[in-house]
Amino acid sequence: MIRAVLRMGNPRLLEVARPVEACPSPELDDLVTDLLDTMRHLDGAGLAAPQIGVSLRVVVFEVKSNPRYPDAAPIPLTMLVNPVITPLADDILEDWEGCLSVPGLRGLVPRYRHVRYTGTDPQGQAIDRTVSGFHARVVQHECDHLDGVLYPRRMRNMECFGFEGEVAALRTQFDPG
Ligand code: NI
Repeated sequence: MIRAVLRMGNPRLLEVARPVEACPSPELDDLVTDLLDTMRHLDGAGLAAPQIGVSLRVVVFEVKSNPRYPDAAPIPLTMLVNPVITPLADDILEDWEGCLSVPGLRGLVPRYRHVRYTGTDPQGQAIDRTVSGFHARVVQHECDHLDGVLYPRRMRNMECFGFEGEVAALRTQFDPG
């Protein structure tokens, strides 16, 4: 079912989400279905449970050919429960991000280039991946939602923040390369 996405300013987006204790479960399956339906409906690259008002540590993400991220390499459909991210190097990359909870805006956000993430899928099967670049960025962005962090809080330069249709000039000026 497509759910309403909470927007920045809603205090529920600032909460630290609880771990999922029962996996698999019918409730978890329903939650993941709603996350996928909502993410796809809005052409998002990812969505975290707190964004639909559910304070549990569950995220989904997938990048096929996404009109919001035309240059992005594909990311396989991932449904991740109780994720843990470990940076694999100090290397930081800045690039532009958007968020379904911050509609219409884009900002330049620093993220670790290489990370490992672990967790389970909704059936309880272990997930353990080492990723870099955009895939690493997406998983860091989604997992931040589980700790009540929206991407503007990660930004270093608020001049690199603006409405989607306006930031084209900024993208040239602050090209992350
Ligand atoms: Ni987001």
